[in-house]
Amino acid sequence: MPLSKKRTLTQYLIEQRRRFPQASGELNALVLDVSIACKAIARQVALGSLAEVPESWAAGEVNVQGEVAKPLDIISNLMLIKQSEWSGHLAGMASEEMAAPYQIPAEHQRGKYLLVFDPLDGSSNLDVNVSVGSIFSILRAPQDVIDSGRDVTEADFLQPGAAQVAAGYALYGPTTMLVLTVGNGVVGFTLDQSLGEFKLTHPDIRVPEDTQEFAINTSNSRFWEPPVKRYVDECLAGRSGPRGKDFNMRWIASMVAEAHRILMRGGVFLYPRDTKDPAKPGRLRLLYEANPIGYVIEQAGGRCSTGRQPMLGVKPSALHQRIGVVFGSKNEVERIERYHHDPVTREAPAPLFAERSLFRD
Ligand code: F6P
Ligand code: MN
Repeated sequence: MPLSKKRTLTQYLIEQRRRFPQASGELNALVLDVSIACKAIARQVALGSLAEVPESWAAGEVNVQGEVAKPLDIISNLMLIKQSEWSGHLAGMASEEMAAPYQIPAEHQRGKYLLVFDPLDGSSNLDVNVSVGSIFSILRAPQDVIDSGRDVTEADFLQPGAAQVAAGYALYGPTTMLVLTVGNGVVGFTLDQSLGEFKLTHPDIRVPEDTQEFAINTSNSRFWEPPVKRYVDECLAGRSGPRGKDFNMRWIASMVAEAHRILMRGGVFLYPRDTKDPAKPGRLRLLYEANPIGYVIEQAGGRCSTGRQPMLGVKPSALHQRIGVVFGSKNEVERIERYHHDPVTREAPAPLFAERSLFRD
């Protein structure tokens, strides 16, 4: 078989580093460690029911979110930790599966980055063999952490998404892909199983600015706020409604897979703040779901928002903070933000929006 001309992840990272002559290569090494963990997770996921798991894990554990963690959630978490803790590039880690930050063990060196991840997003889909993925975000540790090598605290991680140095996800679907930004656009790699290498197959991913496809869990519609109801009603009204065009709808229930579809062909995803549970202002988590996906989407020319303000500007208040999330094609996300700021939409009861011409463009 002739060697393919496609660049590997390592080659891409070396090229990116050349833009910063003073860079040490630590970030590259860290991204490569994450990518190795993702390959290991991909293999484990692909085993499906053939995987041998300890019997004590078979029932699943309840994680910090009060959700049942599947054995694969826990295995993926461990794979990411073990592959990246030894390198000397990390000051600490945090993940959906751990209540508190993870301290780099004393036998390893500590470094300047923080790694934050959702080890297996969409894992409720595992039993039905639908795509899942790992989402990661890399932040710089506060300077006093770097200087002192002290243990990390929750506060060290509470940085806005705009501070991310790199972010991305691995998608375990029909093919395994790694989608990455190091702040210079978005690139996608496909795992070449025969070489065990991620090959650059998508060198410049761009989210189209317009779309006719939206994704939302409509079983929550009775809990939506009026701006979201208005938006969805207008999409559903189709060609004869105020938008004057028909819309298509998708819901995979695996946010990472929805983000990937939107990066490939546009669309808008909403898991908005709603009134379902007053203790939870949204379903998705800010630090390891909304921010990394938001950074990737924005680097690809899309937009990510809480509905009210740009996601990457939000100052986090807790490690496992939940938040309303809207991302995708720029013009559509901006429209949803306008509806949230429109005093009429905010106050009027929702069913009006489908019927009245009040909101016609
Ligand atoms: O991690 C949360 C998650 O699994 C997302 O991947 C997905 O978008 C969402 O939950 C699905 O939520 P629901 O079960 O409400 O459709
Ligand atoms: Mn998740």
